[in-house]
Formats: sequence, C-alpha cells, structure tokens
Amino acid sequence: MRILLLGSGAREHAMASKIKQSRLCSQLYISPANAGMREIGECVSIGSDFESIKDFACKKEIDMLVVGNEQPLVDGIADSFANDERTAHINVIGPSKQAAMLEGSKDFAKEFMSRYSIPTARYQTFGKQDLEEAKQFLKTLNPPYVLKADGLAAGKGVVILPSIQEAERELEAMLSQAKFGHAGDKVVIEEFLDGIECSVFVLTDGKHYIVLPEAKDYKRIGEQDTGLNTGGMGSVSPVVFADQDFMQKVERRIIRPTIEGLQKENLDYRGFIFIGLMNVSGDPYVIEYNVRMGDPETESVMPRIESDLVEAFDLVGKRELDKYSLKINHDYCTTVMLVSKGYPESYEKGKLMSGMSDCTDCMLFHAGTKADENGNILTAGGRVIAVSCFGKTMQEALAKCYAQAEKIQFEGKTLRRDIGKDLIQLQK
Ligand code: AMP
Ligand code: GLY
Repeated sequence: MRILLLGSGAREHAMASKIKQSRLCSQLYISPANAGMREIGECVSIGSDFESIKDFACKKEIDMLVVGNEQPLVDGIADSFANDERTAHINVIGPSKQAAMLEGSKDFAKEFMSRYSIPTARYQTFGKQDLEEAKQFLKTLNPPYVLKADGLAAGKGVVILPSIQEAERELEAMLSQAKFGHAGDKVVIEEFLDGIECSVFVLTDGKHYIVLPEAKDYKRIGEQDTGLNTGGMGSVSPVVFADQDFMQKVERRIIRPTIEGLQKENLDYRGFIFIGLMNVSGDPYVIEYNVRMGDPETESVMPRIESDLVEAFDLVGKRELDKYSLKINHDYCTTVMLVSKGYPESYEKGKLMSGMSDCTDCMLFHAGTKADENGNILTAGGRVIAVSCFGKTMQEALAKCYAQAEKIQFEGKTLRRDIGKDLIQLQK
C-alpha cells in the first residue's frame, strides 16, 4: 500500500514510525515532514492546497491518505478527495467537512452533545449582538469563567478567568473587538469543571470503533501547571485513574452515543475522534472533541499499539473495523518534550542539536527540527523534539525519559521536570 501522511510534528513522526512498521505499507510519503522523518519515509513538500495534494496522490498512485492535523479536515480535504473521480478510491483517514465541525465549531459540538445527552459542562452560545445577554449568563455561573471562541483559533481560543470583571472584559474583546477574528464571531460560555483531565482516543469507521490507549498531556509551560499554554510539554499513558470502571462510563455515556449520533445525522466519519474529558469525582465530562490524534499524547499512545495500525486504517476504509483485533502493550509509555528557550512566546531558531545518537532505549520524535546542507540537525520551532520511553511503572518510564533528555543538547533547551507527578501523587 502506498501511503501519504500530512503533517510535520512529533505526532506525525510517531504515526509515521507506526505506519512504517506495517507489513501493508510499501511506500510512505510525508508532507511537509521534519528532519527526523527522513529515516522513515520519503519527505516531500506538497503545500496545503488540496488540488496539489490530489495531483501528487494521483502521480504517486497513493492508496491511503492519513491527515495528522485538524485544519485540512475542517477545510474539507476528505470531501475534496471523495468528490474527485481521480481520487475517490483513496482511503482518507479523517472525517468529512461536516463531521469535522465537531472540532471546527465548539457550538456545533455542544449542540451535538446536548442532542445525545452526552455529559458536558452547562453552556450557552452568544453572537456579536448578544453581549448584554452573555453578561447576564456569566452572572448565573460561579468563578472561574470559561470563554471559548467558537472556531479554530490555533489552540488559543479558550480563556479561563478568575473574576467576573475580567470575564466581561474578555467577552467584549472576543465579541466586539474580534480578538480571535472570525473564530470568535460566536462565543461559548460554560461552567468550569473541576477535576483531572484525560485524553481518550477512538478510531472509527462510522459504525464500529476501537478505543486506543488513553493518555494525559501537560499543556502549560511551567511546572505544577503554571504559565502560558503550549502545544504540549509531555504526556503519559496509561492514566492511573482511567481504570476499567471509569473507561466503561466513558464508553457507555460518551463514545457510544457519539458514534450513534454521527450515524443518526449521516455524518461521514472515518478517522480518529479525540475526546478531551474531565474526570469530575469519578464521572467523565466532555471538554472538547478533536477530529485527529492529540499532540503530545500520540507520542505515548502510538508506541503502545502492538497490532498493525495500517490494517486498522484499511478496515476503516472498508467500514469493517469490527474485524480488527487491537493489541496493546500494558507497560507505561511517557513523553518529555524539549522546547526552545522563550517558547511559547518569542524564541530563537537555528540552534545546532547534538547527542541524539547517544540516546538509548528510547524513541525520539522530532517536532521543530530541520537539517542543513551538511546534514546537521538544527532547531526550527518552539517544540523541538519529544523523548518517549517505556517502563514497567510510570516512574521508571519517566526516569528513562529524563536521563535521555540530558544527552540531547541545544542552546536554550527547556523542559518540564514534573511530567506525571500529579498522577504519581494519586497513586500514593
Ligand atoms: P482547548 O483549547 O479546547 O484544548 O481547552 C484548553 C483547556 O482549557 C483544556 O484542556 C482544559 O484544561 C481547559 N478547559 C476547557 N473547558 C473547560 C471547562 N469547562 N472547565 C475547566 N477547564 C476547561
Ligand atoms: N494535546 C492536546 C491537543 O492535541 O489538542
């Protein structure tokens, strides 16, 4: 099978490694890729325009397209392939444009959840004309206040504020001053959920589904979850509190009604559903749906999948995922992300990296890296490289990650040293 994977992050590096292991994969192209993926597949730079991607897919006789990132899905890449006779036969892993609204519009996702009684925070949605009503609704909630831009806002559209004054000010900035551009034309205001987060991953053919290993990510730049939000500083899988009882609740109350809802509404969904949820006193509530895998969760989840992922993708395309037998490694896999100094604010790029070849018993997934003409690896982004390791315990896996992370050098290397610590506390 000839496969094209779209993306350039550590998530796609982890997916590419898994795809490459498959006996079904004869050729793997990755666009736009990064320096670490050169060893795995043929890295190409096709651009983001769908016509160019389809031309490439035809020229290279691609059988399967795997879309790493949400933007092309929300923009309708699956429909574009399906509606073009040249590419209609290609198995696209990723939902249709309409179904991708589950991530593309928070209001759509919330309405979907209320139609199927899927547990989520109480909410209301407001447009530009509704500023006064929105302020009234804020008064019915307890602090802190959660405001969400309806559309995609590069992961920055959720703002949580401690006081009603700040919440009102933010609401005006979003609705009246278009702080998030059109993504903030509508704002979802919702109740704050107090609990611990967990990321649950489902692969579906629209009818059947498999539940992949769950994970927890660490979003803030600072230790003990302080400072600005980032694209992710680390992850662990499995998550101690996501035991059989909890996951049964997730499946019964969230996953099944979600799949049934997609079917009832004729939403064509063949791909990943990433359910960001909050564990509130043992009960799961949906914070958000994403229509792709999570980053950096994927870097801890993919290595734990022992069965052939491309076989699962193939069955997704045939809508026969019920024939798949998922095999999971029950050890812990943890990920520590190395980032550039200053990230997520301004940072320098082009720093020479070294030490990667000294790393042992770990997986390195590149994010923002590039190779220069002499074959040196340079930093090329805020999040630079993920270090993932297995262990019989979370502590063992994390200790390995930190030991290997020491060996990698670049000027300004920054990392969080408390990945998994909150869960280790819970275990005690
Ligand atoms: P998102 O950008 O949608 O991933 O949301 C960013 C983060 O905001 C989530 O990962 C949660 O940590 C937090 N969050 C979103 N909604 C809520 C909520 N209703 N209650 C508490 N935290 C929330
Ligand atoms: N780790 C959260 C995300 O990928 O959105």
